[in-house]
Amino acid sequence: MQTAQQFTSLSHLACSQCGQQYSSFEVHTFAPCCNQPLVAQYDLPNSFSKQMLRGREATMWRYREVLPVRDPVNIVSLGEGMTPILTPHHLRAKYALPGLLIKDESGNPTGSFKARGLSAAVSKAKEAGAHTCIVPTAGNAGGALAAYCAAAGMKAIVVMPRHTPQVFKDECRLYGADLVLVDGLISDCAKKVAELKQTIDCFDISTLKEPWRLEGKKTMGYEIAEQLNWELPDVILYPTGGGTGLIGMWKAFDEMERMGWVGSHRPRMIAVQAATCQPIVHTWHGAQPNCRNYVGRPSIANGLAVPNPFAERMILQVLRDSQGLPIAVPDADMIDAVKVIARLEGLLIAPEGGALLVALRELLSQGLIGHEEKILLLNTGSGYKYLENIV
Ligand SMILES: Cc1ncc(COP(=O)(O)O)c(C=O)c1O
Ligand SMILES: [Zn+2]
Repeated sequence: MQTAQQFTSLSHLACSQCGQQYSSFEVHTFAPCCNQPLVAQYDLPNSFSKQMLRGREATMWRYREVLPVRDPVNIVSLGEGMTPILTPHHLRAKYALPGLLIKDESGNPTGSFKARGLSAAVSKAKEAGAHTCIVPTAGNAGGALAAYCAAAGMKAIVVMPRHTPQVFKDECRLYGADLVLVDGLISDCAKKVAELKQTIDCFDISTLKEPWRLEGKKTMGYEIAEQLNWELPDVILYPTGGGTGLIGMWKAFDEMERMGWVGSHRPRMIAVQAATCQPIVHTWHGAQPNCRNYVGRPSIANGLAVPNPFAERMILQVLRDSQGLPIAVPDADMIDAVKVIARLEGLLIAPEGGALLVALRELLSQGLIGHEEKILLLNTGSGYKYLENIV
């Protein structure tokens, strides 16, 4: 039996900008010193080896030493993680890409990678004794919060744009959440959350305004390494809204290198955005000093309609450090790509995932990605939730 102390090696929280330390035993949101996200830090254990993963559960909690839950009784799990990395033979042949891979997150609980972040965050909310959680969402995170709160015996309040497809609303209600609909994008939902929090005592799980969703999402990075026998790809394309997955994977690569699990070879990280909402692309190209006043419009890839990502600075840092870049693609092309992948591979992926193929084709034509490279498309969700806008 492991004691609670051995279960996690969580040590403290650090401001992502200046490094100021905060206690991991207290409830924090973001770092007040710099108004930036807080990042969990671990005493990376020499005693945690890759060999220890053998025979462990096929969920993200197999990496429990580098996840933040102190007492295992607080883990709220619905079987998230250990999603497959698929070999898309027909896409490989069509585009002459012998090293193309797809990590498919659509099989997660509630049909998206959001399950990982919400499993971690709701577990920490439970550990902190919270009874109610609240989230502004573009869609998928709301369903995931609702499901994990149901499993935890907690109340969920989900604040979502009114134009989001019906399935995203229905699932929240079915899981017993209170659903608040707002005219506008996720940034307007965030304002509504701030207003509701003045009168309701609740645990705020807004993207990167608390440190735990990032920890759940980083397990995608651990899995990519483990599933590819500890050889990271050359390029990862990731659909970027709030940036949690992108930042999380980069953090995982860093932690694994420090533990000696992987070498120093890192993938170039490509942040794929929607043409209707591309704040990172605009800042990257110098069209604005930062995204604070960026005005975006909805996208069929609702997860990409995030006009003012709180963690912009961290997203840009990952792109620079990895020698990657951001790129935006039109909605119509995303839908075409979803259909191509469905017909060729039997995979009905989210438009956010479809956007990756469009971006890949563009970067191949510009010579920024080579045909021989090991390229991983990270499909974040299931297309089934978006059907009303796709067929
Ligand atoms: C399917 C899907 N892909 C990508 C994203 C963007 O995720 P992130 O916040 O990690 O950038 C979202 C967020 O809602 C999503 O639902
Ligand atoms: Zn700071």
